[in-house]
Amino acid sequence: MPSRTNRASASPLFVPRKSDRRTARAARDQFAVARGKARHAGRPESRPTAPGLDPDLRATYPPAGRPGDASARGGKLKLPSHRMTTAVAAGAYPFLAEGGLGAQGIYVGRDVHAEAAFTYDPFALYGRLDGFTNPNILLAGVIGMGKSALAKSLALRAVAFGYRIYVPCDPKGEWTIVAHELGGQTIALGPGLPGRLNPLDAPTRPAGVSEDNWRTEVRKRRLLLLGSLAKTVLRRELHPMEHTALDVALDQVVTHAETTGATPLLGQIAYVLGSPEQLDGALGELSGRLGQAAEDLAHALRRLVHGDLAGMFDAPSTVAFDPAAPMLSIDLSRLGGAGDDTALVLAMTCASAWMESALSDPAGGRRWVIYDEAWRVMRHVALLERMQSQWKLSRGLGIANMMIIHRLSDLLTAGDAGSRGRALAEGLLTDCSTRIIYRQEADQLAASAALLGLTGVETQAVSALTKGRGLWKVAGRSFITQHLLHPRELELFDTDVRMTA
Ligand SMILES: Nc1ncnc2c1ncn2[C@@H]1O[C@H](COP(=O)(O)OP(=O)(O)O)[C@@H](O)[C@H]1O
Ligand SMILES: [Mg+2]
Repeated sequence: MPSRTNRASASPLFVPRKSDRRTARAARDQFAVARGKARHAGRPESRPTAPGLDPDLRATYPPAGRPGDASARGGKLKLPSHRMTTAVAAGAYPFLAEGGLGAQGIYVGRDVHAEAAFTYDPFALYGRLDGFTNPNILLAGVIGMGKSALAKSLALRAVAFGYRIYVPCDPKGEWTIVAHELGGQTIALGPGLPGRLNPLDAPTRPAGVSEDNWRTEVRKRRLLLLGSLAKTVLRRELHPMEHTALDVALDQVVTHAETTGATPLLGQIAYVLGSPEQLDGALGELSGRLGQAAEDLAHALRRLVHGDLAGMFDAPSTVAFDPAAPMLSIDLSRLGGAGDDTALVLAMTCASAWMESALSDPAGGRRWVIYDEAWRVMRHVALLERMQSQWKLSRGLGIANMMIIHRLSDLLTAGDAGSRGRALAEGLLTDCSTRIIYRQEADQLAASAALLGLTGVETQAVSALTKGRGLWKVAGRSFITQHLLHPRELELFDTDVRMTA
């Protein structure tokens, strides 16, 4: 009769009665091993390895937690039950992961600490999260860490939620393929390309705004645009007389355009600014002085009419804004990156003015405006000024802005401490309730920590982030998140092609 423990029948494991002790023990051990193996044979492997998944992205432990003794589930430790509030519990046991932002929103990837899915939607969080006062996002990180990939995937996934995506400045032309795949529009601007945008286009009047109010609004926007363009080229603030000259020139051109039923053009404004008799005629008492004061302005605007940007922004637009298209990007990659970025800044000023006026309809639904490679334009105060006034409006219009830069110190290049440029850049930072920090250079860590108020642990985490992994500061709450890409997205967003091909 088989013994109680050895229920196997025929086998080399059968322990003959007359064997000596040592062989008996060896046989029993062998049997125990075989029995263990048999018990586990039917089970699936605890950690299935999905083919193609980056080993870096696989969960460290199976869903059941750490295996073996480390699971601390031996059951040897018996403590009396104790009741406390969660606040006290968090103090007594501080090794807790964040609870997450809830399941509402766009899937981003994995919350590395909580090992849970991470979702995010600025519109869903607004009003639900303390201190979340605006839907804007700042994304900073060194080149190649996947900032654009994150922005593109947020954009792509947001379209599924009915949001529309606008990219007013794409200096690398990498958004074109995304717009194409989503069934959106791309306008490519550059020397020799047929695309034209007239930044003085008047957007259609939103319902509920009176004719008069709208005229004033359009005039204000056009003046702001002309002012920014002039300031960017002249690299200084405008004098009071110059403001007057812009005013007068704009009014003359608009009055003329209205009688002929055309839209005003930058070239016409440059022409009026360059004709002293026309300017002086409009303002009798300053006779002879306004024309002179406008000389610099005339030359500044000339760059857009006859200089390296000739034609692009000085003709009727070749495309109409389609408010129903899911995405619109403006490809500025053919502008040429030589020299300073002034051409890019001027082009971006015109392009974003054109786009923003089209976005001024509060009934246009929820929209994202993404400024990729924004660090290239941070030095230009006039552009920052326009950006900030646009951001102030955006909340009321249902627009979330996303600004992508390399280092946080890019924000500081706008001017010295206490200067207007610096104040504007810092204002933009405050206007971002969500800050996503990808890896920063070692020499940038201290500055970043100071600007964002990072803790020591967070600073250390930022220095060790890998591709696609970022520290998300959402209104004071922190997450380390691994952005996960669908294989199709990976193919679509690949900016390394030219490097690896
Ligand atoms: N989360 C991710 N997982 C895997 N690959 C990624 C991820 N994010 C980005 N990449 C890849 O890394 C490369 C560089 O990303 P990119 O977004 O262009 O970087 P950045 O804009 O920060 O310079 C791209 O080819 C992209 O496909
Ligand atoms: Mg990029």
